[in-house]
Amino acid sequence: MEHTRIKELLQSEKFGKEVIVKGWVRTFRNNQFIAINDGSTIHNIQAVVDFENTEESLLKRITTGASLRVQGTLVESLGKGQRVEIKVTGLTILGDSDPEKFPLQPKKHSLEFLREIAHLRFRTGTFNAIFKVRNALAFAVHKFFNDRDFVYMHTPIITGSDAEGAGEMFRVTTLDLNNPPRTESGDIDFREDFFGKSTNLTVSGQLEGELAAMAFGNIYTFGPTFRAENSNTTRHLAEFWMIEPEMAFYELEDNMDLAEELLKYVIKYALEACPDEIEFLKNRLLEEEKSKPQNERSELNLIEKLNFVIDNQFERVTYTDAIEILKRSKPNQKRQFKYLIDDWGADLQSEHERYLVEKHFKKPVILTDYPREIKSFYMKQNAPDAQGRQTVRAMDILFPGIGEMVGGSQREEDLEKLLTRMTEVGIPEEEMDWFLDTRRFGSAPHSGFGVGFERLVLFVTGMTNIRDVIPFPRTPKNAEF
Ligand code: 4AD
Ligand code: MG
Repeated sequence: MEHTRIKELLQSEKFGKEVIVKGWVRTFRNNQFIAINDGSTIHNIQAVVDFENTEESLLKRITTGASLRVQGTLVESLGKGQRVEIKVTGLTILGDSDPEKFPLQPKKHSLEFLREIAHLRFRTGTFNAIFKVRNALAFAVHKFFNDRDFVYMHTPIITGSDAEGAGEMFRVTTLDLNNPPRTESGDIDFREDFFGKSTNLTVSGQLEGELAAMAFGNIYTFGPTFRAENSNTTRHLAEFWMIEPEMAFYELEDNMDLAEELLKYVIKYALEACPDEIEFLKNRLLEEEKSKPQNERSELNLIEKLNFVIDNQFERVTYTDAIEILKRSKPNQKRQFKYLIDDWGADLQSEHERYLVEKHFKKPVILTDYPREIKSFYMKQNAPDAQGRQTVRAMDILFPGIGEMVGGSQREEDLEKLLTRMTEVGIPEEEMDWFLDTRRFGSAPHSGFGVGFERLVLFVTGMTNIRDVIPFPRTPKNAEF
């Protein structure tokens, strides 16, 4: 390879050396100064053109977005904010970019605008930083589990089951739905479909993960999952990535310990692997906050927030205790919550979760032992409490600014209890026969959890809309690109 990556050149001390860079023009000032970026770093390298000795026709083609090859001498820069620059001796345009048509201009664009051109937003500093952090976090997840001897298990994307029992699935079919085969009772006959049965995109790899955990002990999955929930929020995607470890012989406490350790590890890893990117994102946020009134600005900057999470124990509290806190809380007393908490048993809304983490505990919170009725069928049942209330060994991890980052539980290992629960919620035993074998043969206590990867990236980048931390977001009425 004849060229050097800009990241390497910016750290170089080899003044006077002949170098070649290839990249894209970010700006071109005074017919002389080209800011070039090649994606290796958020920073640009400045190339100084000897414009008096360069053809006018060539200078005209140095436009924002054009790709070029620049040859020159690496010299010490006299300009502010940069150590080195290139004194150009040769310049070739590799690909033109019509300045009248190229949507990215050398100015600040809004995130809303950039979302509409998601196919080009990679070429901005902000998105370079976000996706570098995303990459570092993904790598850190694999490193964390591999260092601890967990097996990375690939679970299917197309399945016949609804792991969460919530019915929010995208159907996969090759049938002609304008003219589908029908059963005698008039329903669509999925026996005629590609797989000979009705199938959907997976909502979670957990059930298959449980099968693997019953053989390998500790496994994890990390892949795309799909939810057809019609939630048009800044926290929901129809296609998102989930990390799902599953561990044999782990009880709920072990599960919480592992989840907390994982989150702290990957955040620390990102801080160390992406110092420039996170610094850039921190400054971006500080800039954004300047337009807010003083009392709405956050006390900690992004880096301080991340370090706070790494350095402090997550709060662990039961659902029942959390309900008491919420009942007595100011917004509940003053009827400021949209949904008032007056009863044990209600599912917590994001306003309640945010009150607990942002106002009450002011740190990440692990909520445990939720009412059985609002959680999935596979969770281990606790003995009823003194008032006869039935809870399960669930744990959700709530993060400031995010809400639910992790959902997990100890699993019900008792076949009879699991079957009873399945019947209660209407899950046919025949469909889950393969899954039930985990409880039929050598059943064991086991636990696991799922981390919403984009919610993790949101937290670490300080971004506020989940559409900005996945390259090509899929949300209701939006599957462009
Ligand atoms: O709480 P959930 O639904 O749990 C499960 O799927 C379990 N099977 C996990 C397990 O125990 N193995 O989802 C887990 C996490 C949530 O806490 C949230 O962070 C994220 O996945 N998540 C979403 N992220 C983005 N968009 C959505 N629509 C999401 N739904 C869940
Ligand atoms: Mg959940």
